[in-house]
Amino acid sequence: MPTPRDLLDELHHRQAQAEQGGGPERIAQQHKKGKLSARERLDLLLDPGSFTELDRFVAHRCTDFGLAAQQYPGDGVVTGHGRIDGRLVYVFSQDFTVFGGSLSETHAQKICKVMDLAVRNGAPIIGLNDSGGARIQEGVASLGGYADIFLRNTLASGVVPQISVILGPCAGGAVYSPAITDFVFMVRGVSYMFVTGPNVVKTVTHEDVSFDQLGGADVHGGTSGVAHFVHDTEPECLAAVRALVAYLPQNNLDEPPALPEPAEAAADRAERLLDVIPDHPAKPYDMHEVLRLVMDPDSWFEVQPDYAGNILTGFARLGGRPVAVIANQPAVLAGVLDIAASLKAARFIRFADCFNLPIVTFEDVPGFLPGVTQEHGGIIKHGAKLLYAYCEATVPKLTVITRKAYGGAYDVMSSKHIRGDVNLAWPTAEIAVMGPKGAVEILFKKEIEQAPDREAETQRRIDAYTRTFANPYQAAARGFIDDVIDPRDTRARLLDALKTLATKRDRNPPKKHGNIPL
Ligand code: HXC
Repeated sequence: MPTPRDLLDELHHRQAQAEQGGGPERIAQQHKKGKLSARERLDLLLDPGSFTELDRFVAHRCTDFGLAAQQYPGDGVVTGHGRIDGRLVYVFSQDFTVFGGSLSETHAQKICKVMDLAVRNGAPIIGLNDSGGARIQEGVASLGGYADIFLRNTLASGVVPQISVILGPCAGGAVYSPAITDFVFMVRGVSYMFVTGPNVVKTVTHEDVSFDQLGGADVHGGTSGVAHFVHDTEPECLAAVRALVAYLPQNNLDEPPALPEPAEAAADRAERLLDVIPDHPAKPYDMHEVLRLVMDPDSWFEVQPDYAGNILTGFARLGGRPVAVIANQPAVLAGVLDIAASLKAARFIRFADCFNLPIVTFEDVPGFLPGVTQEHGGIIKHGAKLLYAYCEATVPKLTVITRKAYGGAYDVMSSKHIRGDVNLAWPTAEIAVMGPKGAVEILFKKEIEQAPDREAETQRRIDAYTRTFANPYQAAARGFIDDVIDPRDTRARLLDALKTLATKRDRNPPKKHGNIPL
C-alpha cells in the first residue's frame, strides 16, 4: 500500500515527466535548430513565476499506427494562464518535440479550454504556434479539433485580444487560426506559414520555392501582409508581445491601460513641428517625425511597419492613454491610398474600435492610386473597407490634416461627415476635390491650349486655384473642420479632445452584423 509520501513522489515524477515534453534529446534538437522549447518560451513571455499550468497530464486517445504505446503527458501543448506586467493572460505553447507539435483531438481540447477561460474571464489569449498541423494519425478527429478552435477564434474576435506567435512551421489548417486572430508575430529563419508546403507546390504548380520564399517571416511581414510583426530572435519577439499587450485592454468592456501623464517635453519639441512640412507641396516628408513630436515620447509602437509603407498604423500614448494611430506617409508613394494601405488600415481601425482605443488620424493624402492594376485588383471594394471601417467606428475619432486631403480620400480619412469627433487642420492643409495641377488641366483645358505661353497660363491658373481651394478655409467655413490650428498646439488640442471625449457615447443601429465589403 503506497503511503501519502509515495503518492507525492509519484506526482513529482509525473510532473517532471510532463515537463520533459518529447525528452531531452528532442529538446536538444530543437535548440540545435536555433529554437526555444515550449516552456522556455513561456518563461520569456510571462512575468517570472506567474505561470499556472492546466491539463499537464492530458493524454491522447489514438491507438492507430502504434500510437497507443507513445504517450507524452500534456500531448504536445503546454496550456494555462500567467501575467504580463501583472495583468492576466491565457496562453498555449505548442511543443514541437512531441509529434512535431501536431494537433490531436486532445491537444485541441486543451487549447479550446484556455480559449473558453480567456473569454469567460475577459483576458487576452496568446498562442505560441510550432506545429506540423493536423496529427495525421488521428484523421478527422484532428480536423474537428481545428474547427473547434476556428469557431472559438471567431466568437472571441472583438471580445478579448487574440495574439498569435508563429515560432516554427505552421502548415495546412494551422494557419487559419492565427489568420483569424488580431495580431501575428513571426521570427526570421524560425517561422513559416503556408496552406501547402514547398513539396505540394512543386507537384501542383511545378514551382520551385524554398520554405523562406514561400512563407517565411519577411514574405508575410512585407508582401502578403499576413504578419504584423517580424523579429530576428525569439526573445526579441516575445518581448515585443509583452510590449504590445501593454497598449491593450483586457477585453471589449475594459479601458486600455493608462500610464501617468508624462511631464511635458521641452518646448522646442512643438517648435520643430513648424519645420516638418516642406515649402513645396510636392516634396515628401516623414510622418514619423510628426508622430514623434506630438505623441508621448517613446510611445510609438508601429504595426505592420514593412507592409504598405504609404500608410502608418500603430499604437502610441497621448497623456499616458493608449490610442490607435493611422497616418498617411508622404515619404512613401506620396501617401496615396492603394489596396494594401486600405486593407492594412481598415483592419487596424476595426481592432481599435472593438477594444475602446481612440483613433487618431494624421492626414496627408493625394487620393486613391489610379491605374489598371489597382482597378483590376479591386481598389473599389478594398478602399470601401477603409471607408466602412472609419464610418462604423464609434470610439473617439480625432483627425489632424497636415497637408493634402484630396478627393474621396478626404471623405474616407475620418472626416467630419463620417462621425469624426474633432477635426483639425494646419494652415498648410489643402482640402479640395483634387490637386491644383489636375484641376486646372480639366477646368481650363481650352484656355491653356489657346494661350500664347501655355506654361505661364497653367501656372497662373494653378496660383488662382491654390489661393481659392488649396487651403483649409473653405472646409473651415462650412464647419467640416473644427479649427485651423498652429501646428505647435497640436498636442495640447489632441490631449484636450481626448479628455472631452472620455465620456463619448455613440452606437450604431441594432443589427446582427454589418456587411463590410470583403
Ligand atoms: C503527426 C507529425 C506531423 C503531423 C510532423 N510530425 N508533422 N506527426 N502529424 N502532422 C512528426 C514527424 O513524423 C516527426 O516524428 C516529428 O514530428 C518531427 O517532424 P520532422 O518532419 O522530422 O521535422 P522537420 O524536418 O522540422 O519538418 C517539420 C514539418 C514536417 C515541415 C512540419 O514535419 C511536415 O511537413 N509535416 C507535415 C505538415 C503537414 O502537411 N501537416 C498536415 C497539414 S493538413 P519523428 O517521430 O519521426 O521524429 C492540416 C489540415 C488541417 O493541417 C485542416 C484544418 C482546416
